[in-house]
Amino acid sequence: MNSLDDRDHWVGLLSPDDRGDHGPHTGWCWVYKGYDPAEEPLREALCTLGNGRFATRGALPEAAPHAEHHYPGTYAAGLYNRLTSYVAGRDVENEDMVNLPDWLPLRFRPLSDDADDTTGEESGDWPWMSPDTCEVSDYRQTLDLRAGTLLREMLLRDRRGRALRVYQTRFVHMGDPQYAALRTEFRAEGWSGTLEVESAIEGDVTNSGVARYRALDGRHLTDHRTGHTDDGLLWLTCRTRHSDVHVAVAARTAVIAPEGTGPEYRARERDVAQTVRLDLADGVPVAVEKTVTLHTTHDPAISDPLDACLHGLRTAPELDDLLVDHHAAWERLWQRAELHVPGLAGCILRLHLFHVLQTLSPHTASLDVGVPARGLHGEAYRGHVFWDEVFVLPYLNLHFPEVSRGLLMYRHRRLGRAVESAAEAGHRGAMYPWQSGSDGREETQTLHLNPRSGRWLPDHSRLQHHVGSAIVYNVWRYGRTTGDQSFLHGPGAEMALQVARFWGDFAEWDADRSAYRLRGVVGPDEYHEAYPDADRPGIDDNAYTNVTAAWALSFALELYHELPEPRRGELAEKLALSPGELEGWKDISHRLYVPWHRGVIDQFEGYGRLAELDWEGYREKYGDIARLDRLLEAEGDSVNNYQASKQADVLMLGYLFPPDQLAALFERLGHRLDPDTWRRTVDHYLARTSGGSTLSSLVHAWVTARTHRAQAWRFSREALVSDVADLQGGTTPEGIHLGAMAGTLDLVQRGLTGLEATGQVLHLDPAPLPFLSHFDLSVTFRGHWGVRLSLEGGRLRVTVPDSAQRSLPLQINGHRVHITPGETHTLQLPQPHEDV
Ligand code: BGC
Repeated sequence: MNSLDDRDHWVGLLSPDDRGDHGPHTGWCWVYKGYDPAEEPLREALCTLGNGRFATRGALPEAAPHAEHHYPGTYAAGLYNRLTSYVAGRDVENEDMVNLPDWLPLRFRPLSDDADDTTGEESGDWPWMSPDTCEVSDYRQTLDLRAGTLLREMLLRDRRGRALRVYQTRFVHMGDPQYAALRTEFRAEGWSGTLEVESAIEGDVTNSGVARYRALDGRHLTDHRTGHTDDGLLWLTCRTRHSDVHVAVAARTAVIAPEGTGPEYRARERDVAQTVRLDLADGVPVAVEKTVTLHTTHDPAISDPLDACLHGLRTAPELDDLLVDHHAAWERLWQRAELHVPGLAGCILRLHLFHVLQTLSPHTASLDVGVPARGLHGEAYRGHVFWDEVFVLPYLNLHFPEVSRGLLMYRHRRLGRAVESAAEAGHRGAMYPWQSGSDGREETQTLHLNPRSGRWLPDHSRLQHHVGSAIVYNVWRYGRTTGDQSFLHGPGAEMALQVARFWGDFAEWDADRSAYRLRGVVGPDEYHEAYPDADRPGIDDNAYTNVTAAWALSFALELYHELPEPRRGELAEKLALSPGELEGWKDISHRLYVPWHRGVIDQFEGYGRLAELDWEGYREKYGDIARLDRLLEAEGDSVNNYQASKQADVLMLGYLFPPDQLAALFERLGHRLDPDTWRRTVDHYLARTSGGSTLSSLVHAWVTARTHRAQAWRFSREALVSDVADLQGGTTPEGIHLGAMAGTLDLVQRGLTGLEATGQVLHLDPAPLPFLSHFDLSVTFRGHWGVRLSLEGGRLRVTVPDSAQRSLPLQINGHRVHITPGETHTLQLPQPHEDV
């Protein structure tokens, strides 16, 4: 049993005084010791390897197909398929990121060809060796973050007592993203004989990794073809049933001395395999190297995926050389992104960075893909793209701006579809979908299953129109950080103006209140989908939605006016923008209604009048109440009746905007948001939020770092361990939480440094927390690569690397300094006020 997988263990380890390394998880290595089948799903997700183009879960190559506890999954970024299933008496359509043929299988067993075999069984009946079928010892699984490899080591003993030591290395190539590879070394201990090794490509795969989706059709692949070439390459092709994407996987399996006999090939309808027999001598290692290529008709510069796969293998370097290139590619990424924080927190942050970069790497920049909420690590949320990029792009902007731009272009290519969706709903402008997949239509399910009650329920989360403002926010932040005018004035302006037009049209004038209102929406807190006993879905005037819409309107206007005249004229003509419409936006941006209740911002109109929940009672009754919505529904009640939120909603405003900007935004809307009022608002919602999303603790950590420092550690810790300890109880095995992972990196990078980019100036407003008061990171800003920020002992050092660039203007605590490339500026920070 691996105690490091235990959640209490994690929480205990991460103490505020943590400064050292911890057990096996140190520095660059993430290590699991011992084998526990029940822990496999979590390890598979956390040991996924990928390169931004495709990723493969850390499943066991030797496990039997479809075995319990194992879920091999390979997913290509942006590769979706749509299927219709019949559930709860109706047809429902879902688009899923497709689980592709499994390239991992590599099975092995000793043959019973020795004289002392007295069992009389046929060799063919011997079970394949695996930790599930053998006695297992010395089991160790290491994710080497620096090298981007997953290493396994184990000693297996079969029922005849034959001991086999296995060392395995795998990688998904970060340099040339068509490749993946698996190197396995076998060593017989105390015997000599024949080892049969089968290397296969398994095409009989479905999407069945998420238990609550299993009533839905998961068979996305069809028209399988398999075979092998004269030069010994295995191949498998198939296509997706609806989106008709053709997929090919090919493998070359080589035996490194001593040679054995074989290979023999077996091609079946949906899988293909080759078998070799190796003569093992006691204690002498034999290695089998499997090199794999994967191509689809989605790839850029592709003709036929199978040709591309075979060509890739025939021109592939030896596995060792592939590995060298792979390491070098990772080294380049670490140089652009590394973040040093001491202790276990630093180790977890590095793991988060690793998974962010495996999902969204520089290869992603040239693909037509968005930010999948659960990475390429599992099937939860079907690989869909939500608003989570608002937690991811701010981090990427400062390291890989080309990736941010690529992700924003995913949205721009779907602008037309968002305009159509708005028109279908009777509105003008762009209504971006809450869940987006291949073509930008709304992919949010219409029904969802409450696993607690077993009931299929209507799902109204598609009313989260605030996603449009988040996209504009990402355009703004990207533009402001990178100064990329061609994007800002090109696709960026088009998206901002179309989203502004949507809000301009969606807003209703309420003469009684002398204000504009946004009615019938759902806010980031997904719990509240309707008023108690209402006959229509949606709530009115979600404060977050209204304030961010006002901001999006004002930014769109600002951007419009700053456009070079010819471009402004072009857009005015293309979008038929009239001065009257622009005036209307300005008016709305000043007069959108913000609800208040007893001196704090009200989450939405009427929220403060809902019943209070008996939080203690529910905690006592159920322990974990993160999914309060499901608990209450199963009791025949509804979370709509209570002042209880799933996740940060109003407080998201404090995540998006620094305090002075937020106060200015409220002032524009006619409200005074002074620090006391904000603090009271923070208290109010911290007490009424169940934390049903990993994004919640992240936002709470961010906000409390500046308002309630004593509480900030609890939230930071929760955000840090949410995936490694699977805090949401079983959700991480279904895919990592990419927003929370990237968000924790950004918590250090921007949250604690107060880093804001305006024009050419880098602003810093540090608020280090006692337990995160020592860090070292570098950012790329306006042509300055690798600007280093180091905080230690209350001193902040900013180093601008040598270059031909002009000096970097830095504004910190009210002072402006210009740092010449090649120089360092050191600043003693004032003692922070303790919990004011
Ligand atoms: C959260 C959303 C988030 C989604 C995908 C949901 O549980 O409520 O805010 O976008 O997960 O991560």
